Amino acid sequence: MRQVVFALTLFGAAVLATSGLTADEPKKDEAKLTKKEIAKMMKDAHDGAKSPHARTRAELKKDTPNWEEVTKDAKAFTAMSEAFKKVNLNYKSPDKYIESATALSKAAGNKDKKAANEAFTGLTKSCASCHSYGSAPGER
Ligand code: HEC
Repeated sequence: MRQVVFALTLFGAAVLATSGLTADEPKKDEAKLTKKEIAKMMKDAHDGAKSPHARTRAELKKDTPNWEEVTKDAKAFTAMSEAFKKVNLNYKSPDKYIESATALSKAAGNKDKKAANEAFTGLTKSCASCHSYGSAPGER
């Protein structure tokens, strides 16, 4: 009897361990974003005069930025932040980018120009954690 209980306990533990594993499985698959996909998102978010990055820069220079636009464009940076979490960038840290993107969304929501500019500057500087050029495209 004792042995049966012991065996059942072991079995239970094994089931728990296995279900824990399978629960992680889909996350792992989802986590696979290729460099190519990252590059496309990067380009879409930052490259060119009509990119969210360029538009946000232009809006934040105005006396009264169009906060709706800034809020909309900030979503591209938030999406980029999410993508960073799904790719292995080895030594390259997206922390500063993610932190700045979050702060920018918040500032846009609050229509806080000072905070938005600070967050945007932080975002722009964060490119250098992964890219060797010192500034954003357009300023090269
Ligand atoms: C956490 C790392 C990281 C940060 C921060 C980052 N990038 Fe990238 N970027 C990448 C990776 C990875 C690629 C994919 C291709 C590669 O390795 O160059 C890429 C690609 C790009 C590309 C496309 C290159 C091409 O020709 O296809 C542009 C443009 C770009 N990034 C601009 C920026 C700008 C502007 C910023 C800051 C606002 C920035 N990146 C911040 C990692 C990062």
